[in-house]
Amino acid sequence: MQAELQLDIERRTDYTFKYNSHFGRHGWLRLTPAYSVKLVQEIIKKDCKANSHILDPFSGTATTGLVAAELGFNATLFDINPFLIWLGNTKCYHFSQNKLAELQEQFNNCLADVRLSENHWTPPIHNIERWWHPETLEILASIRNSLANNFDEPNGNHYHNLVWIAFSRLIIETSSAAFNHVSMSFKSNSIQYELPKIKLLFEAIFNHIITSSKTQLTGKAKVLKGDSRDLSSKDNKLFDTVITSPPYPNRISYIRELRPYMYWVKFLHNGNDAGALDWQTIGGTWGTATSNLKDWKPTNKNLPEQLYEVCEKIKSSGDKNSGLMCNYVHKYFDDMYLHLQNLKVLLKPNAKLNYIVGNSSFYGHFVRTEKILVEILSQLSYSNIGIETIRKRNTKRGLLEFNVTASWEK
Ligand SMILES: C[S@@+](CC[C@H](N)C(=O)[O-])C[C@H]1O[C@@H](n2cnc3c(N)ncnc32)[C@H](O)[C@@H]1O
Repeated sequence: MQAELQLDIERRTDYTFKYNSHFGRHGWLRLTPAYSVKLVQEIIKKDCKANSHILDPFSGTATTGLVAAELGFNATLFDINPFLIWLGNTKCYHFSQNKLAELQEQFNNCLADVRLSENHWTPPIHNIERWWHPETLEILASIRNSLANNFDEPNGNHYHNLVWIAFSRLIIETSSAAFNHVSMSFKSNSIQYELPKIKLLFEAIFNHIITSSKTQLTGKAKVLKGDSRDLSSKDNKLFDTVITSPPYPNRISYIRELRPYMYWVKFLHNGNDAGALDWQTIGGTWGTATSNLKDWKPTNKNLPEQLYEVCEKIKSSGDKNSGLMCNYVHKYFDDMYLHLQNLKVLLKPNAKLNYIVGNSSFYGHFVRTEKILVEILSQLSYSNIGIETIRKRNTKRGLLEFNVTASWEK
C-alpha cells in the first residue's frame, strides 16, 4: 500500500552520506547512517533565525554540529558512543594554521621513521586475518606503533587526533571488508599492500584531512556524552531547533561499522564491551544486545495502537526469530517515547523539531516509523506535527526516509 503511494519519490543520493565525502571535514570518516550535509543546510535555512541554538541528541559523525558551525550557528550534540564523541569534537574544532603546519612536519617525520616489526600490538578483532592480509596487518601495526610514540594514544589533543582519524581511514581503506545491509562480507582474497604504497595512501588521506582542518568555522559546536532517553542540560541551555537523525528500527548496529576503528584506536577492548555498548544504543542488536532483548519488558503500556498491531503481525509471522524481532521493534519505540518525553526540558517555547527517520519492513510487514512517531508526539502534546517524505532509501519498494516535524509550544 505504502509503496504504491510513493512510486514518484526519487532515491536522491544528494540526501545521503555519499554526498558528504566531497565536503571537507564531512568526508573524513564514513558512517553509513550519517545524513547529508545538504539536508541539514536546508533545514537550518528553513527553521533557524540568527542566534538560534541547535540541538542534536543523536550526533553520530556530528554532521549537524559541523554544518551549524559552518553556517555560523552554535550547536550542542549528544551521543552515547565515546568514539563518535571523540571524532565529532575534533571535526568541529577551531584549528590554528600555525599549529597545523607544525603537525604536518611532525607527521612527515613520524612516517619516515616507521620500522617494520612483527611484534607490534594488533587489535583483538575476531578473525583479523579476514580483514587484513598478514603483511598489510604488520605494516598497519608498525605505523600505529610509530604514531603512539609520536602523538600518544588518542585523547583530548585535537591536533594529534587528526593523525588518528587519518589512521582510522587508512585501516578501512586497506581492509577487505564490505558493509552490506544487515550483514558484512569480506573479499575472498585479502589484498597485500607494501609499505611504500601504504605510506603514500596515508599521506594522501592526512593531506586531505589537514587541508580541510584549515577552513575556518564561524559558529561553535560541541559533542557531549549523554543518553538521549535521559538528557538534562548541564549548563541550563535551552534550544530553539532540534535537527537529528535517530537510529531507525532496521537492525543496523553502529558498532558493526565502527568496530574496526574503535579497536584500532583503543576505544573498544573486547567483544563483550561491543555488545554492552550496543545495548545502551537505541535499536542496537550486536552480541549481548540481542540476547538481552529476549527478556526485555516494556516500560510503557500506552504506546500507539498501530505499534502493537505491527508487533503482533511480526510475532505471528512464524519465523524462528519473530518473537525477538517483535521485541526489537517494540523496544525501539519504547525508547523513542522516553527520548521525546524527556527532551521537553531542553526546549525553548516554540522550539522546532526535525527528525529524519526511515520506515522498515520485517517479514513483509511495514513498520511505519514516521506514523508511529507522529502519534507519540501527539500523545506528548507537541504541536504542528507533520511528515515530509525525503527520498527512497533503496530499490526495495516502500523503504523511505522522512522528516517528522513538530514544535513545542509550552
Ligand atoms: C543515525 S545515527 C546519527 C547520524 C548522524 N546524523 C550523522 O550524520 O552522522 C544515530 C546515532 O545515535 C546514537 N545513539 C543511539 N542511541 C543513543 C542514545 N540512547 N543516546 C544517545 N545517542 C544514541 C548512535 O550512537 C548513533 O551515533
